[in-house]
Amino acid sequence: MNTFAGGSIESVLVEKRVFPPPVEFAKSARISSMEEYRTLWNRAKDDPQGFWNDMASHLVWRKPWDKVMEWTEPHVKWYVGGQLNASENCVDRHCVGPRRNKAALIWEGEPGDRRVLRYQDLKREVGRFANVLKAQGVTKGDVVAIYMPMVPELVIAMLACARIGAPHTVVFGGFSGEALAGRIQDCSAKVLVTADGGFRRGNIIHLKEQVDEALAHCPTIRNVVVLKRTGHQIHMEPGRDHWWHEMASIASADCPPEPLDSEHPLFILYTSGSTGTPKGILHTTGGYLVGTTLTASWVFDLKEEDTYFCTADCGWITGHSYLVYGPLSNGATVVMYEGAPDYPDKDRFWQIVQDYGVTIFYTAPTAIRAFMKWGEQYARKHDLSSLRLLGTVGEPINPEAWVWYREVIGGGRCPVVDTWWQTETGAIMIAPLPGATPTKPGTATLPLPGVVPEVVTKSGEPVEPNQGGYLVIKQPWPSMMRTIHGDDERYRRQYWSEIPGVYFTGDGARRDHDGNFWIMGRVDDVLNVAGHRLSTMEIESALVHHKAVAEAAVVGKPDELRGQAITAFVTLKSGYQPSEDLRQQLRQHVAHEIGALARPDDLRFTDALPKTRSGKIMRRLLRDVAAGVESTGDTSTLEDFSVLARLRHEEE
Ligand code: WT7
Repeated sequence: MNTFAGGSIESVLVEKRVFPPPVEFAKSARISSMEEYRTLWNRAKDDPQGFWNDMASHLVWRKPWDKVMEWTEPHVKWYVGGQLNASENCVDRHCVGPRRNKAALIWEGEPGDRRVLRYQDLKREVGRFANVLKAQGVTKGDVVAIYMPMVPELVIAMLACARIGAPHTVVFGGFSGEALAGRIQDCSAKVLVTADGGFRRGNIIHLKEQVDEALAHCPTIRNVVVLKRTGHQIHMEPGRDHWWHEMASIASADCPPEPLDSEHPLFILYTSGSTGTPKGILHTTGGYLVGTTLTASWVFDLKEEDTYFCTADCGWITGHSYLVYGPLSNGATVVMYEGAPDYPDKDRFWQIVQDYGVTIFYTAPTAIRAFMKWGEQYARKHDLSSLRLLGTVGEPINPEAWVWYREVIGGGRCPVVDTWWQTETGAIMIAPLPGATPTKPGTATLPLPGVVPEVVTKSGEPVEPNQGGYLVIKQPWPSMMRTIHGDDERYRRQYWSEIPGVYFTGDGARRDHDGNFWIMGRVDDVLNVAGHRLSTMEIESALVHHKAVAEAAVVGKPDELRGQAITAFVTLKSGYQPSEDLRQQLRQHVAHEIGALARPDDLRFTDALPKTRSGKIMRRLLRDVAAGVESTGDTSTLEDFSVLARLRHEEE
């Protein structure tokens, strides 16, 4: 675990503006006062079992649980002995009353094609695809990999997996074939669901070609189901690849949901850690669904008549929890969009908000900063008066962007909810309740009921208000990850050993005098580039795979738009010379190994990297070099002082 830059952290943010919940909003909100919030929070803290017992009644259970929770640090089980099915909760239960004619999914493709699936349509399609999966040999417990563009079939595939108890692992369509292969190998997926391609900024993303490359190294995959989305020419491997539409046309739409143990795995989602390969974060059924259902309803104040638009891709946890499971379990209408926010022009999201009368909008700070840069004329072109609530997630939001979002997009009338959580936490942990919590730009404010966070020192001592420290969670919660797939030791080490007795988030934070949590970003070697988590080590290991590279060190550099940009320092093997051509080759090599989102923005050749006497690369110094600032921290452990001087020199 790294210490903060300069040894200790002090936040420079002093934000005085306070925005109480709009009176009109609070009147009809689900939780409508701080008293109500405090009562709930205190009850959950004092009697977690009783609280979470009651909260689980928001779901349909096939068999009641015998015990609310079993905790043997660091392993937890929730709703032990209970049985349920996530797809039944997200689909079937809404098909009995008038909701069955309600839109579950309103989808818009990038080229402008549109589809609406009512709850009963969704049920049919999910049932049909569950039968397709069964016909492909998938049985309860088999892992199904999904590598698709943002089309309704992606949601259908996820829910179909959930229906038959096959954990899904969704791989973001922007990841490369190599990255896809690594994930499939790690979880031994049996079947892959994919598409010929998808649309992005008017171009075709060639997914199937990446798949063909990946599957050369994935012996566990027996069958591939391919959705025809773009219609461009692709290779179909006889005996292995099957068209979605052909399989679906012969499958029955009737597939009863399988009752599953509360702790049955729902999905594995890979995310970057500070070391080594991506971690397969494992989430199970009952606790995850209780957490996402409840938080979606509290934080977004979901009402029957809402139209909810989440801009995240299903390849990330936000897409899992707040595009699929949370909102659908609440019976909400979800808007889903396939493509880029600036295609064909920079007002695409606002066109969508206007066309569908979106009431709740959830996006990332990096997107908000892009909207700001593009200018408010794009939002002004459209009628955004349907909006009543705005949300943000993924990284700390700078107060300017927060205020711009509130004023320009929200017309000054919509509460802004800054939601802090992680792939590992499964559901939102720290966020305002829009009808209760006074908000301040830049803070995710207060923990939700059932969440007990604290800011502590390395040894676990609470720090004084406004002092920086490590953000930890002190009580288990239902939607928390259960383990890292195939590596429980890593789970124990990374989350439960850094600071004794508590869950370590990897984030630095401070708490102000009102109790608000100000998240200050990662304290480990994890980058946050445009809200996407990337490991410096993963990028380094991609670089050293290249034949010309001897050593590599990757650091984040502050970036106005994307939060962080990627800078790589590279030393070459003898026989290789730095050149512009090699620089481009290496950047491209990383994109090929991981995905375009990991391509270093800046790649610098150097003849040595600054190291401690024990051989550890001193990233802190490299971060300063990348950012072009003087290092103020301690350099006494630096092995060779001249390296730093040379690095600076090479910059010029
Ligand atoms: C990391 C988790 C949770 C869905 C998106 C990212 C950062 C996330 C906030 C926020 C400040 C935030 C943290 C966290 N983060 N939301 N509202 N304010 N930082 O999920 O890829 O698992 O990344 O994103 O650093 O640890 P993820």
